[in-house]
Amino acid sequence: MTVARTNAQAQIDLHRKLAPRYAYRYSFEFSRLFQQDWHAEMISHVPASAGEILDIGCGTGFFLAELEEKHPGSVGLDISHEMLKVSDEYVPGARLVTGDAEKMPFRDRRFDAVFCKGSLHHTRDHVGFLANCKRLLREDGVLIMSEPCNDNPIIRVARKLLYKKSQHFDEGDEGFTKKGILRLCDEAGFEVTRVKKYGVLAYTFAGFPDHLGVLRFVPGSALLTRLFIRIDRMLCAIPGLSLLGFHVVVVGKPRG
Ligand SMILES: C[S@@+](CC[C@H](N)C(=O)[O-])C[C@H]1O[C@@H](n2cnc3c(N)ncnc32)[C@H](O)[C@@H]1O
Repeated sequence: MTVARTNAQAQIDLHRKLAPRYAYRYSFEFSRLFQQDWHAEMISHVPASAGEILDIGCGTGFFLAELEEKHPGSVGLDISHEMLKVSDEYVPGARLVTGDAEKMPFRDRRFDAVFCKGSLHHTRDHVGFLANCKRLLREDGVLIMSEPCNDNPIIRVARKLLYKKSQHFDEGDEGFTKKGILRLCDEAGFEVTRVKKYGVLAYTFAGFPDHLGVLRFVPGSALLTRLFIRIDRMLCAIPGLSLLGFHVVVVGKPRG
């Protein structure tokens, strides 16, 4: 008899393979510049008074390290022990917890801010995941997410193919539409206070040298990345062109 593998186990197996790739991904000046801009965009939504902060799906900890600089004592949760082992080296002293975000091993109303950068789409019960985030947040807490966005049909098809064909993705993972993720937030009891697209050129060319490494060979790649980041910011602010964005950043607060 074959026993169906759970999604949790599939994610643990996948990220065991991926952990070394993340160190490579962040090892170039241009890719770090891009990720730092993305992180700064997300961290800018943390209220100044925030104390306890959780990063769900913290992975190898590159985001957590930047969060730690501004908000020491943040907690990182990840289902993959292999990913957390890299975090442990990268953010020594960080509070790291191995656990499943669909079960969330924390007491209610513990956190002032909960981050989720690219982990929601790895789970299967999205409303359940978000409802757990709501449960963990204090009344005036804030959820800050960035997830793959498939509003653009070309991006949708390209992602579907990549997730299906590449061994570096799980076929069951899927991006969201902006409308879809807003509906999930609503169903889970969040009032969305901000939503914006993020990442076009810099995301494509600087974000993931482990997938597309062309900038490694281009002189002035850091300068070019800074230019891409500026162009992306303009594109994502223009309603029709924001369709080009690869991610959607959503900020929400628990409703009543
Ligand atoms: C795309 S990676 C993002 C890592 C990190 N946030 C970053 O931006 O570099 C997704 C992370 O979510 C974690 N993950 C997937 N499913 C999870 C679950 N159910 N609970 C906790 N973490 C999970 C994976 O192990 C992986 O580290």
